[in-house]
Amino acid sequence: MADFHRVADVRDIPDPGKALVEADGEVVALFHVEGRFYAIDDVCTHDGGPLAEGELRDHTIACPRHGAKFDIRTGAALSMPAVRATRAHEVKVENGSVWVRLRAEPLWPGVPAPAAFVAPVPAAGLPPAPAAAAAARTAEATGPLCEESIRELLKGVKDPELFVNIVDLGLVYGVTLEPAADAPGKQKISVDMTMTSPACPAGPQLIGDTKRVLGAHADVAGVEVRIVMDPPWTPDRMTEAARDQLGIF
Ligand code: FES
Repeated sequence: MADFHRVADVRDIPDPGKALVEADGEVVALFHVEGRFYAIDDVCTHDGGPLAEGELRDHTIACPRHGAKFDIRTGAALSMPAVRATRAHEVKVENGSVWVRLRAEPLWPGVPAPAAFVAPVPAAGLPPAPAAAAAARTAEATGPLCEESIRELLKGVKDPELFVNIVDLGLVYGVTLEPAADAPGKQKISVDMTMTSPACPAGPQLIGDTKRVLGAHADVAGVEVRIVMDPPWTPDRMTEAARDQLGIF
């Protein structure tokens, strides 16, 4: 088991207050609230935001990047766009000093992936990946293309971390169709899409899956995906269905 490391003097950190400290070569966020100290990783599990720079309210710290909230006592993710806990570490106070012992794992693992999406591996004998299955459904789709039917098809594109479709996540800002000049009877589709963060690691996959799913329709001659970061995505863009799926009430 790891040892405790002295990280600060009690008197150096006001109550309430926070500071970045070093324990065993790692930087952690230390909090002083109502006479007690707490330590968590200075890393937001959504996209690496520096938690110690966020706003501290009671026992909650808000990520300065996109607003995800974490419980400083347990590291639990309390709100979107973070769904996984950050590590919370053991803290003790002795002889006027604060000591931290690092934990290897988060106390609260966060929202588990729904079983239906645990193994989206496109290999022989296994079910097709979600986007491939959605593209197959698109290829069988009938009826006229319109914004509503395209949004319905886009529900086949799922965020690979959250396992929620991009429509219910509120990532699709707009859909436009126009006749394809070079393919009579077919449509060109433009999708304005945002990401939950500017450096969202799932971005390339979401763009590719969107083109793949819509491009499988017999009446589609081309798909353009435009990434729009203004206005920025906020959790209140999610539908009730997405909130239910993520266990957010
Ligand atoms: S990096 Fe923390 S909420 Fe996005």
